[in-house]
Amino acid sequence: MSEARVYRKGQVDADITVPPDKSITHRAIMLASLASGTSTIRGFLDSGDCRSTINVMRAMGVEIRENGTTLTVCGNGLRGLRPPAGVLDAGNSGTTVRLVSGILAGQVFEATLTGDSSLSRRPMKRIIEPLRRMGVDVKARDDEWLPLTIRGSGSPVAVEVHSPVASAQVKSCVLLAGLYAQGETVFHEPVVSRDHTERFLSSLGVPIETSGTRTSVRGPVARLPAFDTVVPGDPSSAAYFAALTAMLPGSHLTIRSICVNPTRTGFLTALSKMGVSVSLQDVREVSGEPVAEVHVHGGTLRNITVEPEDIPSLIDEVPLLAVVATRADGVMEIRGAGELRVKESDRLAAITQELKRMGARIVEKTDGLIVIGNTTLRGAEVSSRGDHRIAMSLAIAGSVAEGETTITDAECTGISFPGFWDLLARI
Ligand code: S3P
Repeated sequence: MSEARVYRKGQVDADITVPPDKSITHRAIMLASLASGTSTIRGFLDSGDCRSTINVMRAMGVEIRENGTTLTVCGNGLRGLRPPAGVLDAGNSGTTVRLVSGILAGQVFEATLTGDSSLSRRPMKRIIEPLRRMGVDVKARDDEWLPLTIRGSGSPVAVEVHSPVASAQVKSCVLLAGLYAQGETVFHEPVVSRDHTERFLSSLGVPIETSGTRTSVRGPVARLPAFDTVVPGDPSSAAYFAALTAMLPGSHLTIRSICVNPTRTGFLTALSKMGVSVSLQDVREVSGEPVAEVHVHGGTLRNITVEPEDIPSLIDEVPLLAVVATRADGVMEIRGAGELRVKESDRLAAITQELKRMGARIVEKTDGLIVIGNTTLRGAEVSSRGDHRIAMSLAIAGSVAEGETTITDAECTGISFPGFWDLLARI
């Protein structure tokens, strides 16, 4: 499928599930690969990005068996990965490249990580610098870009890192390397980013501590136990359908078994501040993560200001929030979102330019967006630019626009949300 056509929807009245969480699936596959014994991952996300992680771990000698939506992983132990025969291809996945780099710091062989053209334009110094401080030998094109060649020392040095960016990928890279270091590895971030790595490691008995924006791990960790885990629904995927419901007054949607980890629910919080009725029911804990049924009722929307400290918990939903803002009263200002420029595409530029084709009144700032509300979007031909989150945000824009919207390069949604177009058509 190279392009998708989308038309205006009436009201939404549906009860859906969305695919499993991408961030948690990556971590489960990596930690199961490092565990001692056989782990089971139930309901893993079978998407392009998670396939990259499966392939990379298999290339380092890990046996991963698939049975429907369950993965069985025969862990090699923390220090038991094997030198890959060729380069490790992370495809489009930043999470794969950055987290695996931390794991490689604790091995005693050399490996090279590469990726597609989008990943090859994403900055890596943010992990290269801390890893070098930990005594790891890292080479990169122009000291910044893929391919990355990493030769682990087996026992990195414990350091204290002050990260200028709030990035769970950078934090996770350092914490994973810290599993192998003698003493306390400490990571400080400007705002708390998603904490799935910390929760997972803690559930496996790793001494990890979090206090505000400071996280530390005490190594070296001798072994990780094998585990049996269930991956909850992805709140970032749920967000597209929550947004559609919010924009169609009188609509109602229930989304089942969604991860409602507070480091991920910023979009739902923003919707509720905009006047949407959002409620979480049957909140329970599944494999160390809070999970709930999410109910959304569409109504009248008013715009809000999104502050820099709000960004990490809705980082992947910012383009979608800009779509919702076009329908709300007043003006939305999104501040402190410069990180969006170094995602799978420059998402601030992409969403501004593509929504403008649909008649949106939107201004791109250096590190944010201004969106004028109460605008009627018109169908147009728009491009995903090969970025899954831009494709899906434009699909939701097209679902409330007048006329027909054609989205080119539409198949990239499979990076995080297999079945997206079918679900959109069904709703
Ligand atoms: C992710 C962290 C975020 C997010 C990405 C997944 C993760 O990236 O945008 O989709 O799984 O750790 P950054 O750490 O670069 O902000």
